[in-house]
Amino acid sequence: MTVASAQRSQSAESAQSALDRVPRQLYIDGRFVDAQSGKTFGVVDPGTGRELLQVAEGDAADVDRAVLASRRAFESGPWRDMTTIERSRLIWRLGDLIEENLDTFAILESLDVGKPLQVSLTGDIPFAAKWFHHMAGLATRMEGTTVTPSLPGRWQGMSLRQPVGVVGAIVPWNTPLIITAWKLAPALACGNTVVLKPAEETPLTALFFASLLEQAGLPDGVVNVVTGFGHTAGAAIAAHGGIDKVSFTGSTEIGKEIVKAATGNLKRVSLELGGKSANIVMPDADLELAIPGAATAVFANSGQICTAGTRLFVHSSIFDEVVSGVAEQARAINVGHSLDPDVTMGPVISERHRDRVVSYLESGFEDGAEAAAGGSARPDDGYFIEPTILTNVRPTMKVVREEIFGPVVVAQRFDTLAEVIAMANDTEYGLAAGVWTTNLHSAHRCIQELRAGSVYVNTFNVADPSLPFGGIGQSGWGREHGEGALEQYSETKSAVMYLG
Ligand code: NAI
Ligand code: MG
Repeated sequence: MTVASAQRSQSAESAQSALDRVPRQLYIDGRFVDAQSGKTFGVVDPGTGRELLQVAEGDAADVDRAVLASRRAFESGPWRDMTTIERSRLIWRLGDLIEENLDTFAILESLDVGKPLQVSLTGDIPFAAKWFHHMAGLATRMEGTTVTPSLPGRWQGMSLRQPVGVVGAIVPWNTPLIITAWKLAPALACGNTVVLKPAEETPLTALFFASLLEQAGLPDGVVNVVTGFGHTAGAAIAAHGGIDKVSFTGSTEIGKEIVKAATGNLKRVSLELGGKSANIVMPDADLELAIPGAATAVFANSGQICTAGTRLFVHSSIFDEVVSGVAEQARAINVGHSLDPDVTMGPVISERHRDRVVSYLESGFEDGAEAAAGGSARPDDGYFIEPTILTNVRPTMKVVREEIFGPVVVAQRFDTLAEVIAMANDTEYGLAAGVWTTNLHSAHRCIQELRAGSVYVNTFNVADPSLPFGGIGQSGWGREHGEGALEQYSETKSAVMYLG
């Protein structure tokens, strides 16, 4: 046996044992149960196009059951009566359990999404754990204020924070465990209960996570997991009268559907949607940082990151140098299967999505764009797209305006800071934007004037539990993390007392 084939059979073996640890049923009220319809659906490895396993296909009837369990767990029982320190300790423990099962989580996430194993091992999984560890502290900080109402006589006023109730969490497929943690950790810290729906493409880590909840000591019904499709299970969550808040991450199109569905009981809605983020390289930038930085900004996770730096703006004086540098980075990327240790970029999520990205590339070429690197899909069984940089684009082209969600960046030139800020802001989206510069003035101008929820300086795609995150315009409603976390998952109540 050669070293390569030994490595392959070893990774096939560990892949199988990770898959064997995944429950294939819904998790409702502390038990794994079949969907009421008895239906199941297949989960595919996007790196081969082959089915990995079948999981339960939950729909509206199962969401009903999950909401009932969540409601009961919220209104009565150990979760409600727990001290804040006990709750905090439990959430911390969830972070520990993710770390203790790092290898299994990483293999599952890589098989499911297609991302290189190394990325899951050092990125996604530890990152998800970090959210539980950070947000654990939030459980003890559900604080309010005291105020003095301006009324005749003696009064005492106060505000207090209380949980929202039952939270519906709808998660996409690009970074499944991370976004699960982004929603679950603060929701639980604030004392809510949760019905979680992972994306139909990527249910594996959510199901494996569910299998650890009992071990963590989480009371039954506090977290329920319903795997299933968006138009059935997802839509039932968005419309459900027993859900008090829905937290959604996904496409702008479905975000709008959620808002409409939520009007029935006027549940609270937070939305983290698409983007077409600008990445600006100023003439004074440190190009040793900026060139690889611009490549990673868009090619990480095969371009399937909502904040990806997909519109690259380079000062005319360095345009050719930066474009050829990013093209060189693109060509050096080794595209392939997630479990191949030499691979640095995986496939996109599905056949449907690959075709969608390819149709964007075709529209770009029809409109006159040229590829400085990449430009097409690979004729493999998996859903691979070459890392692509498009030049000769105009601001009106579809490839410049719409979110492609693949490894495709469009490069445009500019001459002045004012001009590039206007170009960067010429978008319906407003999730993130970045600038590479060594000039303090340019950095601060960009921070102030770029119309986006997050601005990066000499870096890109940085998220942290301490930093509020969310978008402007078609990129969504509300902020997660940081000071946004309490805001998302608690209600402010005021109380006023007449003292005579
Ligand atoms: P999507 O928005 O349809 O799916 C995201 C989640 O929403 C999944 O869990 C899905 O089951 C659920 N969902 C779908 N329809 C629903 C409905 N009617 N009611 C409630 N939940 C529903 O995203 P999709 O179709 O997978 O990808 C399309 C595009 O969306 C991508 O090409 C990309 O541009 C964007 N996207 C953005 C993401 C982000 O992180 N902001 C993540 C995933 C996709
Ligand atoms: Mg969809």
